Amino acid sequence: MRLHWLESQVTKARLFRLEPLLLKMYVHLRSLLAFPLSFYVDEKDMNHQITANNMQNKRILITGGAGFIGSELVRQLVAKRPKEIVVVDNLVNGQPENLTDLPTDQVHLIVADIRDTQQMADLMLGVDIVFHLACLGVRHSIHAPHENHEVNATATLNLLSTAKAAGVNRFVYVSSSEVYGTARSVPMTEEHPTFPMTVYGASKLAGECYTRAFYETYGYPTVVVRPFNSYGPRCHHEGDSGEVIPKFMLRCMAGKPMVIFGDGTQTRDFTYVTDTARGILMAGVAEEAVGQTINLGSGSEITINDLAREIALIVERSNTSITHDAPRPGDVLRLYAETTKANNLLGFKPQTTLREGLLKLKDWYLSLGESPETLLQNEILRNWDLGRVKQSVGS
Ligand SMILES: NC(=O)c1ccc[n+]([C@@H]2O[C@H](COP(=O)([O-])OP(=O)(O)OC[C@H]3O[C@@H](n4cnc5c(N)ncnc54)[C@H](O)[C@@H]3O)[C@@H](O)[C@H]2O)c1
Repeated sequence: MRLHWLESQVTKARLFRLEPLLLKMYVHLRSLLAFPLSFYVDEKDMNHQITANNMQNKRILITGGAGFIGSELVRQLVAKRPKEIVVVDNLVNGQPENLTDLPTDQVHLIVADIRDTQQMADLMLGVDIVFHLACLGVRHSIHAPHENHEVNATATLNLLSTAKAAGVNRFVYVSSSEVYGTARSVPMTEEHPTFPMTVYGASKLAGECYTRAFYETYGYPTVVVRPFNSYGPRCHHEGDSGEVIPKFMLRCMAGKPMVIFGDGTQTRDFTYVTDTARGILMAGVAEEAVGQTINLGSGSEITINDLAREIALIVERSNTSITHDAPRPGDVLRLYAETTKANNLLGFKPQTTLREGLLKLKDWYLSLGESPETLLQNEILRNWDLGRVKQSVGS
C-alpha cells in the first residue's frame, strides 16, 4: 500500500522534474521496507522469490552476454522465465555458440558495439533491468590501454545515461576484484582501498565510480558487483582473454608444461562461474543491493603453485612439469574476498568448491569433442605482449 503510494509520487515527481531526490528517498525506503522480509531467507528462498515475483514480464538487457560469465547469466535468467532477454555483444571475445542451446523466442542476440550510443539508446527502450558485463580484459589493457578505457569506462558512463533516460529500473555494473590491486589486508572487504595495478583495473574502477555517482547524484537504482577470478565452462584459454585455469588445465591434459609467471606465491580467490552468475542475478533483484558495492568471491585463496598441483591431480597427470617465467606486468600478488556483505544483502553463498569446479571444467573440456592440442592452437603463452604496446600507448 505504502509502496504503491510512493510509486505514484515518483511518477508525479518525474513530471515536475523532481526525480533525483525523490527517487533516492524512494529507493532507501523500499530497501528499509524490504529488509525485514528478505534478510532471513536463505539462498533457496531468495531464488524462489526471483522466480515468483521479480523476473516474470521483465525485459532484460545483458551487455557482453555472449561471453564467458554473461552466457552463464543468460542461462540462469532463462530459467526465471522473463519476457525477453536481449544480449548485446560485438563478439570480439564472445561467441554466438555460447547461446545456441537457449530458447530463441526468449533470448535475442544483437551484434552491436556498446560504444554505439544511438543504437544502445534504442535498445534500452522498454528494458527493466540492465546487467552490464561487456568489457575488454586485463591483458588487452596492457597492449591497448586507450581502447580498453573507451570500452570499460567511457562506454559505461554512456550506458548509464542512456539507461536512465530510457527509464530502466535497475542497472547492475559488473566490476572486478582487479580494482583493489594487491591485498593490503585479508580477507578483503568492500572497504579495502582501491589501488588498481593495470589500466583494466583502473578503467573498471572508473566504471564503478560512474555507476555509484548515478545513484548518489540522481538516485538512479544502480548496483556494483565485484567478482573475483571466475572459471568454468566457456572460460577463455585463447588470445589475450586466456586465463590461468583454462590454460593450465588444457596444457596439463595435452601433456605440456604449466607455465607460472613469477614465483607462483601470488594468490587468487577462484569462483566457479555458476556462483558468480548467480550473485550477479541476485544483484538485479534484491532491494537491499541498490546503491551498494558487493564482492562476489568464494571466500578462500590459493597460490598459483598449489593451483597447478591441484590441476595436475584433477587431470590425473601428476608428473606434468611446472615451469616458472618472469612475472607478468601489473600482476596482482594477492586476492582473497570477504563475502559477508554478499551473504547479508543477496543471500549469496558460493556452492561449488575449487576441486568440484575443476572436475566439472575437466568434464566440460572432455565433452567438447576437440582435443586439448587442437584447442591450444589459439593459446598465446605471453598473452599481454602482443607487440602493439608502443603503437597503442602513443595513439
Ligand atoms: N572472468 C573473470 O574472472 C572476471 C573476474 C572479475 C570480473 N569479471 C567481469 O565480468 C564481466 C564478464 O567477463 P568475462 O570473463 O565473461 O569476459 P568475456 O570477454 O567473456 O565477456 C565480455 C564480453 O563483452 C563483449 N564485448 C567486448 N567489447 C565489447 C563492445 N565494445 N561492445 C559489445 N560487446 C563487447 C565480448 O565480445 C565478450 O563477449 C566483465 O565485466 C569482467 O570485467 C570477470
